[in-house]
Amino acid sequence: MNATLLSQHDDDYVGLYTRSVGAGAEWWRVSLSERPFMYRIEHGHVDGSVDIDTVVDEENLAAKLQKWYREGYLTDAQREAEHADPRASADFVAELRRLRASEPARQLHGDTVKIGTVDVPRGPGGALVPALNDAYLFAERFDDIIEDIAENRRVMLIGHTGAGKTSLIEQIAARSQHGVLRSNMNGQTTIGDFVGFWTVKGGETVWVDGVLPTAMREGHWLIIDEIDFAEPAILAVLTAVLEPGGRLLLKEKGNDIVAPHPSFRLFATANAVGAMSQFRHLYQGANLMNEAFLDRWRVYLMDYLSAAEEAEVLMRTFGPRLTRPMADTLAAIAADCRAAFAREDLASAFSTRRLLDWTTLMLRTGDPERAAGPAIYAKVSPEDAALIRSIIHHYIALG
Ligand SMILES: Nc1ncnc2c1ncn2[C@@H]1O[C@H](COP(=O)(O)OP(=O)(O)O)[C@@H](O)[C@H]1O
Ligand SMILES: [Mg+2]
Repeated sequence: MNATLLSQHDDDYVGLYTRSVGAGAEWWRVSLSERPFMYRIEHGHVDGSVDIDTVVDEENLAAKLQKWYREGYLTDAQREAEHADPRASADFVAELRRLRASEPARQLHGDTVKIGTVDVPRGPGGALVPALNDAYLFAERFDDIIEDIAENRRVMLIGHTGAGKTSLIEQIAARSQHGVLRSNMNGQTTIGDFVGFWTVKGGETVWVDGVLPTAMREGHWLIIDEIDFAEPAILAVLTAVLEPGGRLLLKEKGNDIVAPHPSFRLFATANAVGAMSQFRHLYQGANLMNEAFLDRWRVYLMDYLSAAEEAEVLMRTFGPRLTRPMADTLAAIAADCRAAFAREDLASAFSTRRLLDWTTLMLRTGDPERAAGPAIYAKVSPEDAALIRSIIHHYIALG
């Protein structure tokens, strides 16, 4: 910038850059210095004080101008230009919120259970309802997922193993009294297990429903775990039932049509899909899911609980057998191990399940190091065990 070309004001400054602070403003003022090609800069605060008054050269000034812009300081002209930018409608969000407020709330039919801030229809109960975990922590960020379930959307949860994908669905089901069936795609699940098959019973040939038509007919929730390992035939069958109300055609059973029970819900979990694709090398054999398939789901990225949340879960789980500082220490160790995993210093993830089990065992043995053997060290490589041990020893002085 060549400030000498700017018209000089009566009050002798060539540029004023302000940013709002509450009702007032903070500013940087640039004026010409007595020395040629040098500029005087001052920094003023809301309370009228000036804490910087110095002289810089042109190059230095150019760098400052960029820094101020990044920090939100603008000239009056820039301020007007930002507001007038036709590409960024400042009204859009305000308008959206106004319209949303006048939208009718979701109609509630029958009995509901409040989970988080959402009313979830109550299910019929039964033997397939998962066991309630009283220590389970519903974070506010789960509300959108719970709302999707209430609205009968297909929900896919992606994230590292042990981040809490399966347990979130199970604990929502436990509270709303819905049965849950699970089908893991990273194993021996065949299309027959999934859809159904003919078999001979007592001399008669009978059809046995697979897990999908069973859940659809009886109104259970079906969790398809590790969907990124599913074989194409299973994905093809699934596509038909991804639309709400989507029916399943059982070709093998003479084109029998299965209509979904109103309580039926479909979930998927995956480790390396979409936003998690960067971790595909950690999940050997995971397939990329195509975007058209993903677009039929609401996909949520589940991160591990924060250290504060995890400490809270530890306190809820182990109650008076653990103090708050101890819970904080254990949660900090888990957080450090995950940071090492994210840096690829550790090859093994550190799940909440692992932390809870290690804690259970140290409460029994009174020895964190001994407890870490079967709960952690024996499950990972010697290199990983050594690094985890050093992280633990960083936080816990072992007697
Ligand atoms: N929000 C939470 N509150 C309490 N415990 C949790 C929570 N999230 C996860 N956990 C614990 O972590 C364990 C592992 O979670 P899980 O759902 O099996 O992970 P994923 O399916 O992502 O591999 C659960 O069994 C549960 O004990
Ligand atoms: Mg799981």
